[in-house]
Amino acid sequence: MKILVIGSGGREHALAWKLAHSPRVEAVYCAPGNGGTAGNVPIPAADIPALRDFALREGIGLTVVGPEAPLVDGIVDIFGAAGLRVFGPNKAAARLEGSKIFAKETMSAAGVPTADYAVFESADAALAWLRERPADHPWVVKADGLAAGKGVLICDTRAEAEAAVRRTMVAREFGSAGDRIVIEERLRGYEVSLLAICAGREFVTLAPAQDYKRIGEGDTGPNTGGMGAYSPIPTFPRELIAFAEEQVIKPMLRAVDFTGVLYSGLMITPDGPSVLEFNVRFGDPETQVVLPRLETDLLDLLEAAVDRRLGAVDARWSPRKAVTVVLASGGYPGDYAKDQPISGLDAAGARPDVTVFHAGTKRVDDRILTNGGRVLNVTALGDTFGQAIDRAYAAVGEISWEGMTCRRDIAARVRE
Ligand code: AMP
Ligand code: GLY
Repeated sequence: MKILVIGSGGREHALAWKLAHSPRVEAVYCAPGNGGTAGNVPIPAADIPALRDFALREGIGLTVVGPEAPLVDGIVDIFGAAGLRVFGPNKAAARLEGSKIFAKETMSAAGVPTADYAVFESADAALAWLRERPADHPWVVKADGLAAGKGVLICDTRAEAEAAVRRTMVAREFGSAGDRIVIEERLRGYEVSLLAICAGREFVTLAPAQDYKRIGEGDTGPNTGGMGAYSPIPTFPRELIAFAEEQVIKPMLRAVDFTGVLYSGLMITPDGPSVLEFNVRFGDPETQVVLPRLETDLLDLLEAAVDRRLGAVDARWSPRKAVTVVLASGGYPGDYAKDQPISGLDAAGARPDVTVFHAGTKRVDDRILTNGGRVLNVTALGDTFGQAIDRAYAAVGEISWEGMTCRRDIAARVRE
């Protein structure tokens, strides 16, 4: 079978890498891919008609969509209408990520635990509501629509929440994504990314992973797309997974007809898991630690979902621990330089149990240059977290470019 992976990040490199391991896969194409992926097709992820025409022309047997934007724009409906098999939710189901208000309303109706919230369609109404609340109360202000992960503002006080409302609805920093907002209670606890491959009422839960969202060590500084991850999570045992399946995944699948990856972003509070957000796709960088531990053929799982026979399959997991460290361009998540030549990739990738997934890179002749903020995901497996961490950072030590940075504390909290 020929496979098309849509997207250009580390998640897509990991998906393509895992699918290439399947004995039934003849070729994997990536559109547009990056400096580490093979079979690149120069079509942007946003150009759905061109992607469809390519898939028809090449006889693609299954398309896997990495990023959320084409899903929210209806790529699954458009491919389906052309008779193409594609893994992901349709446009209606993708609203779980495309509209935070839709996600909150669906959760409320389904009885899924989530922070108390209010919805506003104007800055005046939001500010008037905040003025009646205590000055020292913490809030989270969220733009309703897609904002490339930037539309969520964590506020310690009412004054900060007022400023967040103005940024979103008056200065319109996130464009039309901020036409409507959610203001919700700020929850405390630790976060877990729990991904499930779903088809109708059936689902296969993937191994949980923890993402490091802040740029700075010790979880300081601004949010990023993710600076590292590890899997499994020792503090999130089988019983908590089962609890989340009952309290979150099953009620959501009763409420929405969903095929694809349902990514539940959970906060584990003293009162139990509560949903912070849904994504409708694989997580990045979670995928880079989940897939290396998956022993089942990924193609079998994805096809079973598309063909709506997921009940017949199971996922098997390696007991080994996986850690990924994101190497970023200096300045990220603010401005950063591009086109820096990267050295040491071969030496890093040759280390035992290390895989270097590319994200913001491009290949120019025989050189790999930086091409984004998050550049590489150095992933290692080990029998213990200590071993996986040491292997990952030893491989990081081989790699360099002008301005390269990374967090040094990825998975440190689970080191045995
Ligand atoms: P979201 O895109 O909704 O997941 O928000 C991005 C990040 O903001 C989450 O991963 C959390 O770190 C944080 N966050 C979102 N909602 C809340 C909340 N209600 N309480 C505390 N942190 C939150
Ligand atoms: N790692 C966060 C995300 O994929 O949205």
